[in-house]
Amino acid sequence: MLSSHSVPFLIASFVLATSATSVVDIASYCKLLASKVGHVSYPGSSTYNDSISSYYSGQERQLHPGCVFSPTCAEDVSRFIKLINPGHGYGSYRGPQFALRSGGHMIWTGAANIQGGITVDMGSMNSLQLSEDRKIVSLGSGGIWSEIYPVLDKYNLTVMGGRVPGIGVGGFSTGGGISYLSRRQGWACENIYNYQLVDATGQILEVNERSYPDLWLALKGGSNNYGIVTRIEAPTWEIEGMWGGGLAFNYTPEILAANAKAFSSFMDPKNFDDSADMGMALVFQNPGQVYAVGGDLYYIKPVVNPPIYRPFTAIPSIANTLRLTNVTSLVTEASGSLPPGASRAIDLVFSFRNGDADFYSDLFKIWEDGTEALAHIENLQLVLLIQPQPVSTGKSSLGLPAGETDFVVTVLTAAYANAADDDTVQKGMEDIVVKQEDLCRQKGLYIPYQYLNYADRSQDPIASYGKAEKARLQAVSKKYDLNGFFQSALPGGFKVFP
Ligand SMILES: Cc1cc2nc3c(=O)[nH]c(=O)nc-3n(C[C@H](O)[C@H](O)[C@H](O)COP(=O)(O)OP(=O)(O)OC[C@H]3O[C@@H](n4cnc5c(N)ncnc54)[C@H](O)[C@@H]3O)c2cc1C
Ligand SMILES: *[C@@H]1O[C@H](CO)[C@@H](O)[C@H](O)[C@H]1NC(C)=O
Ligand SMILES: *[C@@H]1O[C@H](CO)[C@@H](O)[C@H](O)[C@H]1NC(C)=O
Ligand SMILES: *[C@@H]1O[C@H](CO)[C@@H](O)[C@H](O)[C@H]1NC(C)=O
Repeated sequence: MLSSHSVPFLIASFVLATSATSVVDIASYCKLLASKVGHVSYPGSSTYNDSISSYYSGQERQLHPGCVFSPTCAEDVSRFIKLINPGHGYGSYRGPQFALRSGGHMIWTGAANIQGGITVDMGSMNSLQLSEDRKIVSLGSGGIWSEIYPVLDKYNLTVMGGRVPGIGVGGFSTGGGISYLSRRQGWACENIYNYQLVDATGQILEVNERSYPDLWLALKGGSNNYGIVTRIEAPTWEIEGMWGGGLAFNYTPEILAANAKAFSSFMDPKNFDDSADMGMALVFQNPGQVYAVGGDLYYIKPVVNPPIYRPFTAIPSIANTLRLTNVTSLVTEASGSLPPGASRAIDLVFSFRNGDADFYSDLFKIWEDGTEALAHIENLQLVLLIQPQPVSTGKSSLGLPAGETDFVVTVLTAAYANAADDDTVQKGMEDIVVKQEDLCRQKGLYIPYQYLNYADRSQDPIASYGKAEKARLQAVSKKYDLNGFFQSALPGGFKVFP
């Protein structure tokens, strides 16, 4: 059975595929690009294979572009855009379609890869430059956060990036960004001073609050709708050390109840501690039909077992890696890859305001009941991850109020083995999330915001920013991308139109 939203998607991709092959000869565009700019690799080469095999999900690895373009500088990107965009009237683009990737960690089919088009892989543009006073770091958009942290750790500095190995600068910093510092500083994108952006005409713009304030704000949540980000400038943060690690618990009613109470207490504004970030997860695994509970605690000061975590650390655990440590070590410890034998993945995201312990117990119960329908799926790992949201500064396009400390972001993730199970898994997950969202609504806790970087293609994160934000994002697109080039030439990812 197809789920309701996969039908229009199939039709849409069929139409795109037919129109693309009938009008555009990708092979000749690749050849032209190779001769005018270079850095083009083809199926069968090791550069091409390395690019395709480095996507996080099997869905993205399964797409095969006609060629991969790996620019080494902003000028290469500019030449690429000028080559393919003749800049005619709105919606009249008839050139090749392309995908844009940095770390390749968005998981759904076509988010950052494309069948038969050109994939622009920013991976070679991974420079890191620290300003002389060490207060600002300049990062190529193809950089990988887990490779950036060890460089900065040496100076007792860090930057707001991803918390598992492999996440890229480009997608993370244009979609939001939850980092260890987010309870104090907000979303990572809210802290970026400058984006270097190649726009639809191939101009290289330095986009900051003074130069292009509207475009600067649009990039903070507007993902790939405005151009190709080639570099960012972000503040560094002094960090003396961290305390944190993981906790694993047996899955028993008492332990679930204790975790529900502990998370509710963590999120209670009267206990707010801006140094403390965390995630707690319920995990179901097949084979074995195993259930587990886990917690990851991240404190951005070298303080052992701070009071805010004590409701968790008091629960009897079966594994505990909590320690005084550093950013690099914590990120390395987090698993950055899908479980063995499970190359496919689906995420569904939603948000709510903190509730009482009973509310979390009900949320857990809905998840537990929902695992039954999926228990037979080969190599399934179904994880309900609940995390505090960054305390927004309001300086983004995410449509979130500033200063709210009790917002929670929840992501339901399935990893599994076979494409044949896609529709069953999607349906089973949607059943869980619909019920959980209903619970949030009943309790008056529901928040419409969907975090773009965790969202599935069946969701609409840009609409979730609110009508006014979406209208503003569309107006900025019309202003800086007169012909709608990034709407038609770059179909993947979340778009501001329609
Ligand atoms: C295991 C795992 C752990 C995660 N942990 C975290 C976490 O701790 N915190 C968090 O906030 N998120 C986390 N995420 C989500 C992550 O932020 C998103 O997947 C994000 O999109 C990754 O960025 P990327 O560059 O790797 O993505 P890509 O897949 O390369 O790109 C994602 C989207 O951004 C666009 N894009 C990429 N590069 C550019 C660019 N240079 N200019 C303009 N647009 C661009 C792409 O076209 C695509 O639509 C996690 C994801 C996974 C799979
Ligand atoms: C690239 O992958 C293809 C398909 O898996 C394989 O046939 C080819 O030998 C690989 N090329 C290199 C250089 O590894
Ligand atoms: C970070 O921690 C790891 C593991 O404890 C250690 O090996 C490494 O030297 C630390 N790095 C710095 C810069 O302190
Ligand atoms: C980093 O902090 C540690 C511990 O406070 C200190 O010993 C070390 O000298 C610092 N390193 C730098 C480069 O400041």
